[in-house]
Amino acid sequence: MHKGYFGDYGGMFVPELLMPPLLEVEKAYEEIVPTKSFQDRLNQVLRDFVGRPTPLFRCPNLSAELGFDLWLKREDLAHTGAHKINNTIGQGLLAKMMGKTTLMAETGAGQHGVATATAAAMLGLKSVVFMGAIDVVRQAHNVHRMKLMGCEVIPVHSGTQTLKDAINAALRHWISEQASTHYCFGTAAGPHPFPLLVRAFQSVIGREAKAQMLAATGRLPDTVVACVGGGSNAIGMFHEFVPHPEVEIVGVEAAGTGEPGCFHSAPLNVGTDGVLHGMLTKLLQTKEGQILPSHSIAPGLDYPGVGPEHAHLQAVGRARYESVNDSQALAAFSTLCRKEGILPALESSHALAWVLANRETIRPGSQVAVCLSGRGDKDMGIIAEAEAKGLM
Ligand SMILES: Cc1ncc(COP(=O)(O)O)c(C=O)c1O
Repeated sequence: MHKGYFGDYGGMFVPELLMPPLLEVEKAYEEIVPTKSFQDRLNQVLRDFVGRPTPLFRCPNLSAELGFDLWLKREDLAHTGAHKINNTIGQGLLAKMMGKTTLMAETGAGQHGVATATAAAMLGLKSVVFMGAIDVVRQAHNVHRMKLMGCEVIPVHSGTQTLKDAINAALRHWISEQASTHYCFGTAAGPHPFPLLVRAFQSVIGREAKAQMLAATGRLPDTVVACVGGGSNAIGMFHEFVPHPEVEIVGVEAAGTGEPGCFHSAPLNVGTDGVLHGMLTKLLQTKEGQILPSHSIAPGLDYPGVGPEHAHLQAVGRARYESVNDSQALAAFSTLCRKEGILPALESSHALAWVLANRETIRPGSQVAVCLSGRGDKDMGIIAEAEAKGLM
């Protein structure tokens, strides 16, 4: 593999002013992350602050109904309610060791912003979060959480005023503040080394899931499933299983409303190769290379690009990427609430919806492990709106 590439995808497509901070992060990733002292400190914080390991839970009622074992990797039970904290703790610790005083991030749904503000508060760092002005209004609850933890939330008024524009603003800000600031990128995307760095901190999900599955059943899962926004919970779940060809790997993108011609958020299903946010990957774009707006009922899946490693795993046939629409995700959300007493994030509901939609084709008796990337409390406003519109 060429450095920073996954097959044909990845790279560092950035203005030259961004090369010094990226090379500094690359050096820290190579020289600090593998050390015993860093790993010991990381594992201690993941255990005592984040609450790891998260359980691998076999759904008793749905498993009986479906005829195969449905397992959930419970990232919803991690501190702050989603997998995002695994990454922000890792990058926060690294930033401290690099001598930085500020953790900066972008956020769309606000989960990564909350996780960044949380890690920064615990580690004694300042936090600054860029957020599209529309998302600031849509995700007011998470904005409030960030501010309570001392975070400066900067609304971005350019472009579509959502995640894509927040990333652009954060990258620009980093150019001027690189001496004091680490850019804590929120997903396994962006320019090298972020896809590798975020994978390094999220792969704890799959490592734990593999050990837990072996302890519970004596074998590996037949299928692992995760939703794909930028791709961090998915690569975290998948990475450990990639070398095991007998384990089927399924990523699930958001098909939006599912109506013909509607906006969606499924670049691996319907996108084309192009460059965005410093990486070559699959994108939603016009023939002329203009980025198309994305849509999903799950705010954390609403992104027109995807991490380059997923584009590669798809290209080489090691993983397949499917999509489910908003109403399938809402139905899966309700099913998990009623049947198992777990209120999942709308993002995670997409992964579950794929399993429910494919129940007929999944071999009876098989073991299916779904990454439940987060809890749904943040989505209560969207759920209430969907109920009012008679969508569920
Ligand atoms: C709960 C949850 N799951 C999934 C995602 C999607 O991100 P990623 O694809 O990086 O895991 C998000 C993003 O905010 C999220 O909050």
